[in-house]
Amino acid sequence: MSRHERPKLATRCIHVEKPADPHGSPRTPLYDTTTFAFPSTGAILDTVEGRGGSSLYTRYGMNPTIRAVEAKLAGVEDAEAALAFASGMAAETALFLAHGREGVVCVGDAYGGTLELLAEDLPRLGIPTRFVLGPELDRLDGLLAEGGGLVFVETPTNPALEIFDIAALAERAHARGALLAVDSTFATPVNQQPLALGADAVVHSATKYLGGHSDLTAGALMGSRALLDPVWGWRKALGSAPSPETCHRLARSLGTLVVRVRQHNAAAAAVAEAMDAHPRVRRVFYPGLVSFPGHALAARQMSGFGGMLTLELDADARGTAAVADRLRLFAIAPSLGGVESLVTQPVTTTHHGLSEGELERRGISGSMLRLSVGLEDPEDLIADLEEALA
Ligand SMILES: Cc1ncc(COP(=O)(O)O)c(C=O)c1O
Repeated sequence: MSRHERPKLATRCIHVEKPADPHGSPRTPLYDTTTFAFPSTGAILDTVEGRGGSSLYTRYGMNPTIRAVEAKLAGVEDAEAALAFASGMAAETALFLAHGREGVVCVGDAYGGTLELLAEDLPRLGIPTRFVLGPELDRLDGLLAEGGGLVFVETPTNPALEIFDIAALAERAHARGALLAVDSTFATPVNQQPLALGADAVVHSATKYLGGHSDLTAGALMGSRALLDPVWGWRKALGSAPSPETCHRLARSLGTLVVRVRQHNAAAAAVAEAMDAHPRVRRVFYPGLVSFPGHALAARQMSGFGGMLTLELDADARGTAAVADRLRLFAIAPSLGGVESLVTQPVTTTHHGLSEGELERRGISGSMLRLSVGLEDPEDLIADLEEALA
């Protein structure tokens, strides 16, 4: 590698900035402290006024362990800067409060918590929010003309794995003076780089693939320093910085992100193909299947198709739940992105409480099971699904 060549993603996941450890540990050291001591009031004033070091108070994110994981997160999305948060929802909330005050337009379906924040909580604070689903996308320019400083899109979506064209959305948002933020949680930075496609911000529930072991709750927001500065103020006010322990664990997880996601991709593709041929499965929602409607777009803007897929069974909601109940290797749990395979019936979890009409508009039915394909041997996972379906 020449001195000027940019290291590849797997290298950046491991080698981007670590605070110097006086003992030489190759790991990101854990500064398990709420505050930092200074030799004089003058020295603390220098730091408060931005002339000194960057360690001050952990809730501000001014802690070397938090800073180190943020440097890694920025490197992973090839962003100028990153902010870590106590959860994915904390990252979204601070983003919307900092950049969505003129209005947020949500494109497509999204995680239930995001929908609730946008549909109920932000309007209560006087922030206008609007929604356009995939088939209604021609309404977007009109909505932006009415006002709306931020377009938010999740791609692929939960649970139908709908794919949205990030470059085209960025162009439409920018033409109206709006920003585009992409929730890239399902894709991961290994499979999709929204900033390179023109998005202004990328948000992750780091609880999922970035953490990767179902043992930490965190969020991440990447973008330009100018975009993140006001978000930092909201994170400080909301007290939603992650703990140093969480960042220490997240830094460990990022080291294996590329190998984990490549295996998630391969295993999910194998499961999707096997289920596509199964007589009790009506449809498989997986962007890697050539027959999937979003495949061509996904192949263009993603370099891998991810570890998430959704099955629509030839069964009613009760029969579908019974299949989930019979699975032995897929645990019934509402999260995703960990080493262990998980299954959820979206109508009982992420999309619980939506009216029949709203579910139909979003293409979600009781016959769907969403799978987070873990790192077990895919042959065992397929055998488990086939037994439960038999
Ligand atoms: C796509 C997506 N975005 C955001 C979130 C919120 O993340 P967190 O649970 O870390 O707050 C989730 C949680 O499931 C999610 O699936």
